[in-house]
Amino acid sequence: MIDSVIEISKIAGQIIREGFRKNFSVEFKSNESDLVTDIDKESEKTIVNYIKKKFKNHQILAEETGSIKASSEYLWVIDPLDGTTNFAHGLPIFAVSIGVQKNNETICGVVYDVMRDVIYAAEINGGAYENSKKIFVSSNQNLSHSLLVTGFPYNIKSNPNHAIEKFNLFLKKARAIRRLGSAAIDFCYVANGVFDGFWEVHLHPWDICAGKLIVEEAGGLVTDFSNRPVKIFSKQILASNAKIHAKMLKILQIG
Ligand code: IPD
Ligand code: CA
Ligand code: CA
Repeated sequence: MIDSVIEISKIAGQIIREGFRKNFSVEFKSNESDLVTDIDKESEKTIVNYIKKKFKNHQILAEETGSIKASSEYLWVIDPLDGTTNFAHGLPIFAVSIGVQKNNETICGVVYDVMRDVIYAAEINGGAYENSKKIFVSSNQNLSHSLLVTGFPYNIKSNPNHAIEKFNLFLKKARAIRRLGSAAIDFCYVANGVFDGFWEVHLHPWDICAGKLIVEEAGGLVTDFSNRPVKIFSKQILASNAKIHAKMLKILQIG
């Protein structure tokens, strides 16, 4: 299974790489900050056709197409291009993110960092990998020594869930904060120990599915802001090296 997920992630990544900084069409979704390009759609179409051909009765949940129901206990959760704003503006930070669930449990996840040509992959109970190297979260226990990352939903201007106050509080507590613009890559950089923690107030199943498993298999912890276990429909996400989790939760509960 994982080999097929890696194979199709790379095929989709190739489409995205070839479209980067070329002429592509851009449309708005919920507002003028929420973009979709024809490359997002082409990537998704290629992934969906691959699954339909190779795994005939598997179910699919894909960002641009929605839900494709079928009889199988397997569900593929797909973000065909995570980091569309970066892609559309020519910033080379974006990924393909594909998670596969069996009976509602994620059994494998792949994030393909397209421009760095790096595969992050995990299978349940099998560890997490960056290409062929096993990866682990950081061992830092101290929030003031932490490099954190976050992202903002497309309705950030209305400050949902006090997202701006949360960001301000972390600015004062952490060593530094980054905003890369791809939740899938944010998860993977927690998994490989670059970031100590990642939070976001409102993510979607296709942002979460693969990345969550990769962080957990690298020894990290993923919960919501009330420290409850996270499902793909959970929205609030705190992913950390586990050691600073309680400290981050304290701030997320205030803001
Ligand atoms: C977005 C990115 C971004 C995050 C947003 C996501 P998209 O996904 O992952 O980093 O902050 O919440 O919606 O729209 O580029 O697939
Ligand atoms: Ca996304
Ligand atoms: Ca996307």
